[in-house]
Amino acid sequence: MTDREWEGESIVILDFGSQYTQLIARKIRAEKVFSTILPNSANLEEIKASNPVGIVLSGGPANVTETEAPDLAADIFSLGVPILGICYGMQLISIRRGADVDRSDHREFGKTMVSVDTGSPLFRGTPAGQKVWMSHGVRVNTLPAGFEAVAFSEGCPIAAVQNISEMIFGLQFHPEVYHTDHGREILRNFLFTICGCRPVWTSESFADLETARIREKVGDSRVLCAVSGGVDSSVMAVLVDRAVGRQLCPVFVDNGLLRDREAEEVMDLLSEYLTADPVFVDASDEFLKRLDGISDAESKRKVIGKCFIDIFEEQSRIHGPFDFLAQGTLYPDVIESRSTGGPSSTIKSHHNVGGLPENMRFELIEPLALLFKDEVREVGRFLGLPEKQIARHPFPGPGLAVRVPGAIRKPDLDLLRKVDRIFIDGLKRENLYHEVWQAFAVLLPVKSVGVMGDERTYQNAVALRAVTSTDGMTADWARLPYDFLQDVSNEIINRVDGVNRVVYDISSKPPSTIEWE
Ligand code: XMP
Repeated sequence: MTDREWEGESIVILDFGSQYTQLIARKIRAEKVFSTILPNSANLEEIKASNPVGIVLSGGPANVTETEAPDLAADIFSLGVPILGICYGMQLISIRRGADVDRSDHREFGKTMVSVDTGSPLFRGTPAGQKVWMSHGVRVNTLPAGFEAVAFSEGCPIAAVQNISEMIFGLQFHPEVYHTDHGREILRNFLFTICGCRPVWTSESFADLETARIREKVGDSRVLCAVSGGVDSSVMAVLVDRAVGRQLCPVFVDNGLLRDREAEEVMDLLSEYLTADPVFVDASDEFLKRLDGISDAESKRKVIGKCFIDIFEEQSRIHGPFDFLAQGTLYPDVIESRSTGGPSSTIKSHHNVGGLPENMRFELIEPLALLFKDEVREVGRFLGLPEKQIARHPFPGPGLAVRVPGAIRKPDLDLLRKVDRIFIDGLKRENLYHEVWQAFAVLLPVKSVGVMGDERTYQNAVALRAVTSTDGMTADWARLPYDFLQDVSNEIINRVDGVNRVVYDISSKPPSTIEWE
């Protein structure tokens, strides 16, 4: 849970488990309107606490006609704010208002042409015929009481409904997805014409409000935080620093599993952008000692997580006392901890390092807990962090430990660092770095035969992996140019002693994962 709520007006999205719920929230925020996702089990008090000026009911995988299908816990109709039901949301509104909702004879999936009533405030400014994205097996057969139909398609005579006097709308299709040609205008109509929202959710207003809020909360106390050099923790630290300056104690732990020269680069960045002096802890020997002989991936993660906590605890004793701990928790983690089911709740769980021990009781400050990753980047830009920091590839907490399958030895890490450096420098040189979501090398636990000069060699194989993705949940292998791969492969084999073979990973996620462990 977060320590953070937004005090301004918001659009509340009630989540019925659609894979698109977060996308709806992001599309709304892209219009500079704050949106928050609550589980469909939220009660009226919880909904009111978010200051809703409008409510969106998301789609969902369930069949609305079945008795165990998720329902609305709260009587949202009594709130008197505009409501937009999308797909499952529209079906739910319709059932509640007495319509006949049934399994459709024509399941509709994919791009579909609909005819809309351009007189409807929802469709104002959009063409009478338009392409939309449908995805439903259930359809509304008769009009709910008090509603009129404002769109139809060949397979769906009631593709959108409205009740103007109560300001309740329903769409059978998905305005939030890219394939709905006029989805953006439809959402904007809902936000600005129907709900009367103001576009005030900007990096600047967020950073200003958050700075003031942290300052007020912290007062004269001191704040501890761990920084990893990643985008989230650096934006978080700069934001807290902006609020409380030297009262912040940023701690950077070198776990010996970082990339080539990474520790120096992170320390340089922190020193430049923070008022407070960052604490540097070289704990690489301790991490490597504890990892000695451990080959199972999850065990490695656990050992690394525990070692980090022990070291962090020690640092907090040395530099403390502290009343507050600042963390770079993002909004998707908050939604995950609140979620009540459906596909949107199945977010990666193995990445969360275990919690802090009992004796480390701090009050939490989570300044990014309202933000999606792209918003964190925007705030980072606003705070003046350099683009090369903002656009860095994600790097896993356990670092190179999960890129050396099996037990870890220091010489293997050193070898991998050299390979990784050549690959990443090559991507940057050829302007390919920003084309991919993440790129790295894996040291395979395989030796193979090669020939160099007249000599037979028996050396390591490395795998290069580069993927495209929007959120790391799914990914595809990047189609890097063959010539580039050839050059990088040659450079690695010529320059890194101990490697005589390079392979390129062409698996997508799913069914593979991005990392090898
Ligand atoms: P996978 O391998 O699960 O990775 O497809 C998805 C994204 O998460 C990163 N990752 C991790 N991040 N701790 C982290 O902080 C971890 O243990 C971890 N494992 C994977 C991975 O680099 C990718 O961006």
